[in-house]
Amino acid sequence: MNKLVLTGLGKSFGDTPAVQDVTLSLKQGEFVSLLGPSGCGKTTTLRMIAGFMRPTAGTIAVNNVVLSSPDHSLPPEKRGMSMIFQSYAIWPNMTVGENVAFGLKLRKMPGTELTRRLDQILSVVQLSHLKDRYPAELSGGQQQRVALARAIVIEPEVLLLDEPLSNLDANLREEMRSEIRRLHNEFRITTVYVTHDQSEAMVTSDRIVVMNHGRIEQVDDPISLYNRPKSRFVAGFIGRTNFLDGTLDGGSIVFPGFTATVGLFPDAAQLPRAASFSVRPQTILLHRSAPTDTSNSWWVRGEIVERAYLGEYWDYVVRPENSDLRLRAAAPPLDIHDVGTSVWVEIDPRRIAQIPAPKDETT
Ligand SMILES: Nc1ncnc2c1ncn2[C@@H]1O[C@H](COP(=O)(O)OP(=O)(O)O)[C@@H](O)[C@H]1O
Ligand SMILES: [Mg+2]
Repeated sequence: MNKLVLTGLGKSFGDTPAVQDVTLSLKQGEFVSLLGPSGCGKTTTLRMIAGFMRPTAGTIAVNNVVLSSPDHSLPPEKRGMSMIFQSYAIWPNMTVGENVAFGLKLRKMPGTELTRRLDQILSVVQLSHLKDRYPAELSGGQQQRVALARAIVIEPEVLLLDEPLSNLDANLREEMRSEIRRLHNEFRITTVYVTHDQSEAMVTSDRIVVMNHGRIEQVDDPISLYNRPKSRFVAGFIGRTNFLDGTLDGGSIVFPGFTATVGLFPDAAQLPRAASFSVRPQTILLHRSAPTDTSNSWWVRGEIVERAYLGEYWDYVVRPENSDLRLRAAAPPLDIHDVGTSVWVEIDPRRIAQIPAPKDETT
């Protein structure tokens, strides 16, 4: 069943569109992220869902009931939703327990049931032992857990989170994004999560909505999004990548400085004349010696022009012979090549994604 449905949703400020033609359905219990660069319209979309802002086009429906349209908007407090902001604003004059129980008291929940729900959620977010502390006596991560517990305990129809981890330091952010997914597995509340951090979106989400300039670029599960980006923007925004732009010529694709055999690409028959590809750094393999078998991969001679050691991997820049291309290759720590040495570059065409050619895209 569809829980939350956005149809042709739009918001303009004066003549300036901030969100355009956003159409999206969330199933009951689904966790979906809105991901995109700053200013792409994520917060505006979320605020419309929460009811803080009325759309200038389209509708928002929950359980098949329209809550927002350009001429009607149900107020936030009547939507049965919880929203968590970047500044997670828990009440400083209330203890952890009082903060979390507040929404239940507001709903006049009987004492025994309230205590049961409160103790359960505090135990899930590992705050039971801190029930009587005040926010000032908690770390940033603990405060964030209070905010999450407070939002979840009322079992909202829809949970909305706007960059909830951006005030935490890097290690804590990593811990909390897994925690958010664990909480979701436990309570299965339909969730819209706004972030500009692709790892956060990939760890937490069932599906990711990539937005750019107020519009949806692509909606997919994390694996498809990474491996089959449909646009250059998505390919470049989700992880690092190389763009290879070539031209089809009979049975070959001519790239700047080298030529590859079309036949090795899985969807060879579908390739347009201007054929572009997104090639992830870890799919470019570097070899010391010439290949003995070239039937499964594209091979080209090249030179190492830059390298950086990042502990978990080497970040190489390799320039194919007779070419100005600079390909980024990620290699295991023991795969050591000096700058200036020549290597054989192997690209497995089954592990790359065809994307629109530069001129086919306006972004
Ligand atoms: N209240 C407002 N008045 C005018 N412009 C706004 C307002 N809120 C947001 N915008 C503009 O709308 C666009 C999208 O903003 P926002 O939704 O906050 O982006 P994001 O959350 O993705 O960073 C931006 O260009 C922003 O400047
Ligand atoms: Mg925002």
